[in-house]
Amino acid sequence: MELGGISIKNIKLNTNSSARLIQICKIIAEYFKGSFGPKGLDKLLYDKFDNNILISSDGGTILEDLKEHIELKLAKFILTYGKNIYDRNGDGVKTFYILLSEMLSIFQKLTEQGISRGIILESLDKIKEQWIKFTQHSLLERSREKILKNERFLSSYFISLIYGKFSNSNTKHIADLAVKISCMLGNKPLAAWFDPKTFIQFQFLPGTFITESKILNGCIISKEPVNTTIIPGHSLLKPRILAVKMKLYLDPPDGSESGHQGYEYDIKFKNGQDHNDFTKYMEDRSIKIVNNLLKLKPDLIITHKGINRDIESLLNKNDVLLIRRVKTDEFENLTRVLEIEAIGSINDISDRNLGIAERLTYKKIGREKKITIELPKNKKRAIGTVLIGGSQWIVCKQVKRGLLKLIYAYINLLRMPKILYGGGNTELAFAQYLKKSLSSQNFRIKSNYKIIYCIQEILEGFYIIPSLLMENAGINSKKGLSILISKYINDVRNIGFNVINLQIEDMRHAHVYDNFSAKNHLYLTLFESLKQIVRIDKIINKKSISKKS
Ligand SMILES: Nc1ncnc2c1ncn2[C@@H]1O[C@H](COP(=O)(O)OP(=O)(O)O)[C@@H](O)[C@H]1O
Ligand SMILES: [Mg+2]
Repeated sequence: MELGGISIKNIKLNTNSSARLIQICKIIAEYFKGSFGPKGLDKLLYDKFDNNILISSDGGTILEDLKEHIELKLAKFILTYGKNIYDRNGDGVKTFYILLSEMLSIFQKLTEQGISRGIILESLDKIKEQWIKFTQHSLLERSREKILKNERFLSSYFISLIYGKFSNSNTKHIADLAVKISCMLGNKPLAAWFDPKTFIQFQFLPGTFITESKILNGCIISKEPVNTTIIPGHSLLKPRILAVKMKLYLDPPDGSESGHQGYEYDIKFKNGQDHNDFTKYMEDRSIKIVNNLLKLKPDLIITHKGINRDIESLLNKNDVLLIRRVKTDEFENLTRVLEIEAIGSINDISDRNLGIAERLTYKKIGREKKITIELPKNKKRAIGTVLIGGSQWIVCKQVKRGLLKLIYAYINLLRMPKILYGGGNTELAFAQYLKKSLSSQNFRIKSNYKIIYCIQEILEGFYIIPSLLMENAGINSKKGLSILISKYINDVRNIGFNVINLQIEDMRHAHVYDNFSAKNHLYLTLFESLKQIVRIDKIINKKSISKKS
C-alpha cells in the first residue's frame, strides 16, 4: 500500500519502534481522512469475497481492505484497535485513527522540545480523568421510556448517524427499518442473555431494491424443502418441528464405500455377504428411524446432515416436509428460538425435541422460494430476520453494515441513555472543558507547569475533527475553526459545523448527533492506545536491559 510515496512495507527498520508506529498511524490516518464525515469521498475497494469492486466510505469496510494490504506486524497491531472499536460500535473508526495520528504528531513535537515520556503519560492520565468528568456533566440525558416510545427522535438520530453514507431516500428507508427493528427489540437488549449477533438474522435479497427490505418475526431456511405439497395455500398454522443433528443415512457396513463411520448400525456384515441381507437391514433400520421420528407427529423435519433415500421416501409418504443439510447458523437459530433440543440419537426422542411455531410459509422471497418459520409473538427470545434488498450482494452488505451500526446505536442508547452532538461539537466542547479545568486553581496546585503545557498542546489535537469535516465539505477550515473556537470561548454551547447547509450552528436544532457509547469507547481506547504506543520503546529497552544483567 502506498500513500504519497510512503509505503507501510518500506518503513525503515532502523528507526525505533515508537517512531515507526507513529509513521504507520500517520499513513493509516491519511488513508481515512479523505472519506471522513458525511461529505467525505468514497473509497474504491476490492471485495475479495465477492470478487467485485466495492465503493464505500464505511470505516470498518475500509479497515478490512487495509488489512489485506498490510503485512507489517506492527501495522496489523495498530489495526486491531480499530477493529475492536468497529466490532463493538460499528462506528467511529475514522475518528479514532485521525485523532490517534494527530495526538502522536503532537507528542513527537513535545518530545523534540525536551518533554519526557513520563510527563506525556501523566498528561494523558489527566486528560482521561477530565474526559470521564466531562461525560458525566455535559450530556443530554433521556429517560429510557422516552427513547423507547419516541420514534421521531429515533428516526432523526438514526438519519444523523448514517447521513451521507447512502442516497437520501435510501438513508430515510434504512433509518425507518432500523426504527422498526428497535421497536421489535423493545427493551430486550437490557436482558443479560441478549446478544444482537444471534438475535437478529440477516438475509440478503440481491436482485431487488433496498425498499423491498423487511422484517420477519422468525427465521428463514434457505435450503430447498422436499415434499412441499403438504403446505396448503403456501402456509401451515402451528407447524410441529423437529431438528435432527446426526446423520440419517447408513454407510455400507463393510466399509467399502467412503470408509466413514456409519450411523448406529448394530450388526457387522462380513465381506462378500449376501447383498439382499444388507438391503433388508437398511430398510428395517430406516423404518425404525422414521417410526421413532413420527411418534412426535412432526410437520417439518430439518436435518443438519445428509439423509438416506429410504428415510426420505418414508417421510414423504407420511406427509412430512423435509429440509436437508440446513446451514449451521440457521439450524442453531431455529433450535434456539423454538427452545428445543436437536435430536442426537434416534432412540432418545421426547417432547423436549418438539418445537411448535406460529406459522410456516413457503413463498417467493427475493428471487427464490423459501421456507419461513414465524414464531409466536410472546416468545421472549424470538428472533427477527431482516431481509435486506439491494441490486447486488455487495449493496446488501453495505446496507447490513449501516443497519448494524444503527442497531448498536439503539442498544447503546437503551443501556446508556445519553447522546452527544456531532459536527465537531464533542471535540470542541471537550477541548474547551480541558482549557477551563487547566485554569482552575485546584488543577494548577496539583500539577506541574510542564503537564499544564502538555495538556494545552494536546487539546488542540481535538480540533482536527471539526477542521476535517469542514475541509471535506470544501470550507476553509482555518477561518471556520477560529469562529467555532471563539464561540466556545464566549460559552455558546452546542455549536458545531453542519455539513448539510455548511453553517456553523446549534447542533440541537440541526439534529446532528453522535453515538455517546461509541464515542466514549473510542476516546477511552484512544487514551489507552496512546499510552501503549508511548510506552513501547520502554518495554523493548527493559527487555534488553534485563537480558544484559
Ligand atoms: N450533518 C453533519 N454535519 C457535520 N458533521 C456531521 C454530520 N453528520 C455526521 N457528522 C460527523 O461526521 C463524523 C463521523 O464521520 P464518519 O465518516 O462516519 O467517521 P467515523 O468512522 O469516525 O464514524 C462525526 O464526527 C459526526 O459528528
Ligand atoms: Mg461513522
